[in-house]
Amino acid sequence: MRLGVNIDHIASLRQLRKGKEPNIVEAALICEQAGADSIVVHLREDRRHIQDTDVLLLRKAITTKLNLEMSSAEDIVRFCEKVKPDQATIVPEKRQEVTTEGGLDVLKNFYKIVRVIRRLEKRNIAVSLFIDPIKEQIDACLKLGVHRIELHTGHYANARTPHSLKKNLRQIKEAVYYAHNLGLHVYAGHGLDYNNVGAISSINVIEELNIGYSIVCRAAIIGLFNAVAQMKKIITEKSI
Ligand code: PXP
Repeated sequence: MRLGVNIDHIASLRQLRKGKEPNIVEAALICEQAGADSIVVHLREDRRHIQDTDVLLLRKAITTKLNLEMSSAEDIVRFCEKVKPDQATIVPEKRQEVTTEGGLDVLKNFYKIVRVIRRLEKRNIAVSLFIDPIKEQIDACLKLGVHRIELHTGHYANARTPHSLKKNLRQIKEAVYYAHNLGLHVYAGHGLDYNNVGAISSINVIEELNIGYSIVCRAAIIGLFNAVAQMKKIITEKSI
């Protein structure tokens, strides 16, 4: 199973002061060295974290796959055509949301999405659609002619009771096998962390998991010791 690492929140941290640190390319290269199979970034319409220049720099610097998460807004589609990432994952986007709240409604937006898919495929960009684990949405993806879907695991990740957790996990498993048996490449992601990922990664026909927030949060904690020790060393040496 491949791991795509979403580094949006490395950029969120940088945007707090609109400076250069932490460096997004450096972060991506560390992820690759650690075993990431792809680097994922979401160029949001409000550019709250990842910027256009980040995507351009990553396109040149990384040696794994670049997976651009994007809405179907015209300027974003045009940018994607220009950058030509290895993969584009089309997601729904609302300005006020803190993060992507659910999957695309492929049934409702069928004709808009089909136009975007054809444009991107013309540029040899592999297209994946981020959808909720619902059979009708999977059927609609098949009708669109896409080969890849990413199932939204956010409701499973946010489940607060054992009953809800079980119900959401069952729904994901059923959707994964349903889509897999139809010949689709099945990916999954959103809200996955070090505690809840095991049940999802054990569904072995899932080919790729895309994970961001929990990895960046863990990095802040396990990297803190070295960061403090390094600073202490510098100021101690200077004060002698
Ligand atoms: N997959 C998709 C389609 C997403 O939109 C996101 C969030 O940008 C992720 C995966 C990663 O989610 P998280 O940051 O919660 O791990």
